[in-house]
Amino acid sequence: MIGIGAGDPEQLTLQAVRALRGTDVFFVLDKGEVKADLVRLRREMLRTHVPEGTYRIVEARDPERDRGADGAAYSPAVGDWRSARAGICERLIAEELGEDESGAFLVWGDPALYDSTLGILEEILARSTVTFTYDVVPGVSSVSSLAARHRTGLNRVGRPVQITTGRRLAEGFPADADDVVVMLDAHQAFRQYADQDIDIYWGAYLGTPDEILDSGPIAEAAPRIERLRAEARERKGWIMDTYLLRRNPGAR
Ligand SMILES: C[S@@+](CC[C@H](N)C(=O)[O-])C[C@H]1O[C@@H](n2cnc3c(N)ncnc32)[C@H](O)[C@@H]1O
Repeated sequence: MIGIGAGDPEQLTLQAVRALRGTDVFFVLDKGEVKADLVRLRREMLRTHVPEGTYRIVEARDPERDRGADGAAYSPAVGDWRSARAGICERLIAEELGEDESGAFLVWGDPALYDSTLGILEEILARSTVTFTYDVVPGVSSVSSLAARHRTGLNRVGRPVQITTGRRLAEGFPADADDVVVMLDAHQAFRQYADQDIDIYWGAYLGTPDEILDSGPIAEAAPRIERLRAEARERKGWIMDTYLLRRNPGAR
């Protein structure tokens, strides 16, 4: 499992490049039209770093996820989807990988952060129909990219930072942290905190030519970000954004 960074091909580590070059088969799960850009980016990385003719790419269609599922149904829906993906990956490994060959999944950002590939591989191993060993190569996460592009740290001195999802943020601002990184937010949960003493550091398409950054007191930045987000989404058909909310501790 190779973390490939959050969009900038130069975020590939030397360790990742070495792992790419030692791979016979790359497994790519295609997520359909909107994510075609991301599949293209992975292919370009391979073209740039791995000699042609030394590897194969095997593609499969990603199973549809029940995006309508909400609240309590959300976790089972993710679980079903993960199992469906595990079934596809199991078949790919069994059918496409020779006995002595090595395969790789290229994972966006860092495999340790909101990515299901580790869980999928463990599920496949637990089924015991195919056996293999695997290693994980860490990658530069979108969170690291966000902090770097805004030239800020994630935590303040001696203070915690929490990484969470838009869905969770919508349920309330975390009680124990004033610095909160939010990922996977399709509904702009930050808007509900626009009347609080909070600064936002926002980034979309980090590391890619489409990158957009904005920051400032949330009351002023939120409407701007909303507009930028809507325009970008309209233009490209999809968006990936991450942000840090920094609450003034006096504002609790
Ligand atoms: C399924 S998670 C994968 C995270 C990934 N493993 C990482 O380390 O960044 C997808 C979320 O990561 C964030 N993300 C990933 N790449 C991004 C990028 N280039 N720019 C902004 N956000 C990104 C977004 O919040 C998106 O909803």
